[in-house]
Amino acid sequence: MATEYDFLKACWGQPVDRIPVWLMRQAGRYLPQYREVRSRGEGTFLDLCKDPERAAEVTIQPIDILDADAAILFSDILTPIEPMGMDLDFNPGPVFANPIRTQADVDKLIVPENMAEAVSYVPAIIKRLRTAFEGRVPLIGFGGAPFTLACYMVEGKGSKDFAALKQMMYGDPSLYHALMEKITEMDRRYLNMQIEAGAQAIQIFDTWGGLVAPHDFEKFVLPYTKKLISGLNRKDIPVIYFVKNSGTMLELVKEAGSDVIGLDWHVNLGKARDILGEDVAVQGNLDPTVLFAPKPYIEKEVQRILDENAGRPGFIFNLGHGIMPTVPPENAIFMVDAVHRLSQK
Ligand code: CP3
Repeated sequence: MATEYDFLKACWGQPVDRIPVWLMRQAGRYLPQYREVRSRGEGTFLDLCKDPERAAEVTIQPIDILDADAAILFSDILTPIEPMGMDLDFNPGPVFANPIRTQADVDKLIVPENMAEAVSYVPAIIKRLRTAFEGRVPLIGFGGAPFTLACYMVEGKGSKDFAALKQMMYGDPSLYHALMEKITEMDRRYLNMQIEAGAQAIQIFDTWGGLVAPHDFEKFVLPYTKKLISGLNRKDIPVIYFVKNSGTMLELVKEAGSDVIGLDWHVNLGKARDILGEDVAVQGNLDPTVLFAPKPYIEKEVQRILDENAGRPGFIFNLGHGIMPTVPPENAIFMVDAVHRLSQK
């Protein structure tokens, strides 16, 4: 694929002059500029997601402040669940007032025909951003993987183990599969809508996919991500699949068919690349808490990860999970600069 962007080149495994870097959750509360924009209007998180002007503004902030090589649409993995008929709130974690537990609950779920209408603020933000960036950085669209979306829809809120979903998975597999079919189809329409609106890459977040054993991943998680990815109108749009805590089942994660695999910090990046092979790019994997360390330590850790990659093409530097709300912004700025400086050819 012909592209001028280092980020997209790296997604396709092409050589770059310096390693591209962005941070998961790079727009957010650690930035005073984000808190300022968030406090305007009604001041709630959902209100910000639905206001194209302010959502675009906070997407651009980390590009200006950090000099990141890619922007990620400002939204949440759970916003497209609202038009499925579920009441969503953030406090600050997500809360569904009416979690899915029965066949009647699954039957009631709507799979909107037209996602561009159902969440009209999302294509509006994407279009604004493509105009604002005018070739400066590529824009990543995103969604939750079906399994991680189901975790919240069935539990109704965040959890350590999402036992309610696992209870459904083991106790009533046909109900589980019926739910997953509906979520996957919504997700496919949602991500294709983002591509049509102008997203230049897609990241699928499977934050909780690593909660299950490998044989259960194969049976309950993988088939739906695979179906989702194969149903995307990808053409020249790379797909990144990030499954937290999946270091013991990387071969299965690869089977989902993404172009890039996101790695958390529990794996050695070099060893993970040996397992994954040369035909897939990787993204990761600095421990997010390293951003609390003194700068010389941050620099050493950046160098260690670059050394583990050992010059292989198809590498995007990132954190192993989202940036934490109490990280000093200057440390994030320093980290991005260190990646650029230490990897410059
Ligand atoms: O990366 C970005 O800058 C884009 C924005 C983005 C948000 N959420 C904004 C957000 C992205 C990519 C997400 C993804 C997301 N949301 C995931 C997958 C990635 C991950 O971190 O594991 C998950 C599991 C969610 C669900 C979610 N949303 C949780 C668990 C929380 C609460 C945690 C927290 O940070 O308080 C949210 C709220 C949320 N999503 C915030 C932001 C900026 C904080 C809300 C606020 O501003 O008060």
